[in-house]
Amino acid sequence: AAAVTHEAERAAVSQGLVESNHAGYTGTGFVNYNNITGSYVEWTVDAAQAGSASLTLRYANGTTANRAMDITVNGTVAAAKRAFPGTGAWTTWTTTTLTADLKAGANTIRATATTANGGPNVDHLAI
Ligand code: GCU
Ligand code: CA
Repeated sequence: AAAVTHEAERAAVSQGLVESNHAGYTGTGFVNYNNITGSYVEWTVDAAQAGSASLTLRYANGTTANRAMDITVNGTVAAAKRAFPGTGAWTTWTTTTLTADLKAGANTIRATATTANGGPNVDHLAI
């Protein structure tokens, strides 16, 4: 099936702000993580059936430091310290894709900053 886009600005945000000052995002904006360890965005997404899914995160990182994040699905780490390297500019958006198991029904997918720099700016999650 075609991927469904889940905007970060519509997800639950802990220690971050929805902003729109860097062009190129989808929807109405993106999440600017507070630059601290532990800031996160959490999406609740519905899966028609249990099974493996491709999770694509779209982000920008205008610095040269990798802003690694833990990606958890229903509280279990699916990708520890996933790399979100610099993209060259805050207006240069790119994607990274991982595979994770989803259950049928509602799933919580959380992307949590693991460094004191916080996460990158996150635009959306496509599944
Ligand atoms: C800049 C940029 C923000 C970004 C921040 C950061 O302030 O405008 O969008 O989140 O840097 O370094 O995290
Ligand atoms: Ca930030």
